[in-house]
Amino acid sequence: MQTRFDLTQADIPKAWYNLLPDFPEPLPPPLHPGTRQPIPPEALLAIFPENLVQQEMSPERYIEVPNPVRDIYALWRPTPLLRAVRFEQALQTPAHIYYKYEGASPAGSHKVNTSVAQAYFNKVAGTKRLATETGAGQWGASLALATKLFGLECNIYMVKVSYQQKPYRRMLMHTWGATVHPSPSDQTDYGRKLLAEDPHCVGSLGIAISEAIEDTVKHPDTKYSLGSVLNHVCLHQTVIGEETIKQMEMAGEEPDAIFGCCGGGSNFAGLTFPFLRRKIKEGKKYRIVGVEPSACPSLTKGELRYDFGDTAETTPLLMMYTLGHTFMPPAIHAGGLRYHGMSPMVSHALKLGLIEAQAYHQTKVFEVATQFARTEGIVPAPESAHAIAAVADAAIQAREVGRKQVLVFNLSGHGLLDLSAYETYLTGKLQDV
Ligand SMILES: Cc1ncc(COP(=O)(O)O)c(C=O)c1O
Repeated sequence: MQTRFDLTQADIPKAWYNLLPDFPEPLPPPLHPGTRQPIPPEALLAIFPENLVQQEMSPERYIEVPNPVRDIYALWRPTPLLRAVRFEQALQTPAHIYYKYEGASPAGSHKVNTSVAQAYFNKVAGTKRLATETGAGQWGASLALATKLFGLECNIYMVKVSYQQKPYRRMLMHTWGATVHPSPSDQTDYGRKLLAEDPHCVGSLGIAISEAIEDTVKHPDTKYSLGSVLNHVCLHQTVIGEETIKQMEMAGEEPDAIFGCCGGGSNFAGLTFPFLRRKIKEGKKYRIVGVEPSACPSLTKGELRYDFGDTAETTPLLMMYTLGHTFMPPAIHAGGLRYHGMSPMVSHALKLGLIEAQAYHQTKVFEVATQFARTEGIVPAPESAHAIAAVADAAIQAREVGRKQVLVFNLSGHGLLDLSAYETYLTGKLQDV
């Protein structure tokens, strides 16, 4: 029985898919925090290059993937699609479970799909140095690699608690030549202010974003780079879904339900937006499910309203499901899902009823992740394991009603640098917060 569906290098997508023009209702625009009017594109040029601002607001359905980006994608793309037959057997389910494996990238997650694109477009625009933030380090590592490949400098603000507790991704960033600061840091006015108030502040993604933006506006030839949330980041991730559509055709099956974990929303968007295109334009009946941690439940418990993307209130206001920009998420092990807001496009899709959302506690997530590792071999990233928890529940439901279901999820990263979290679970010390 064929359980692995591989494409060739020639199948690496030649265009990214932009969901924006296909929404049945227009997406509410980002607002200037002072005037509360839609922000003009020029206002974003202080922190982003013009080519990426154009992508952020583009009405075009498809945007070409430049050849230098495709050439680097070829280091790991197309990624495989696998059928998890041993996991199905363990769950005793009639469901067929497929997963797209983005952990096959050099940095170990989907994040390089956009870091490579962003580094390329910045290089073309004359940027010399990029500033960014990172939580557990998946994004920082991905940008460190991409900037090195295109000859740019990279300056990263890493949430202090992760900087101290997750040394391996920091080492990966150093290996790829980036500079990494624990955030809050002494590098910015905002960081120094927070450290003066509380020298032991452990930081948050919202604070690190504020520091990276301040760094950008205060340094010449520097632009800011974000690893999720924004339209152009979701756009770059759609290579995942475009490949998956072809691979499901190879498998001869049509999904009933499609799952992705949600931090800022980009990995979920990457897998599901090309399927949403089919849902909107071809009337397909897919269930599309975003899965988030119960400890940081922006989609399931947040409010849909305009909010800042960072703690210091320096970003434009975005219409999104949010827990409030001062929300300090508890220190769960899925560090990449600890963000107060959600991509405006993913939020809009939820508001329009095109997708659904579910939340899981981390003990359940690690229980299913361990079962997956023991049947399929791959140790999932704690973030990705949220999607597996929801898939396992859907597969058990299929068993209970005795109906075959085709379930597809994105295994957005491997967990080989998260083994201390697994040890905490395996020794019975993991708790829900
Ligand atoms: C492996 C992995 N999956 C998923 C995510 C969630 O991010 P996003 O929702 O932006 O895709 C992260 C974030 O760091 C991650 O590292």
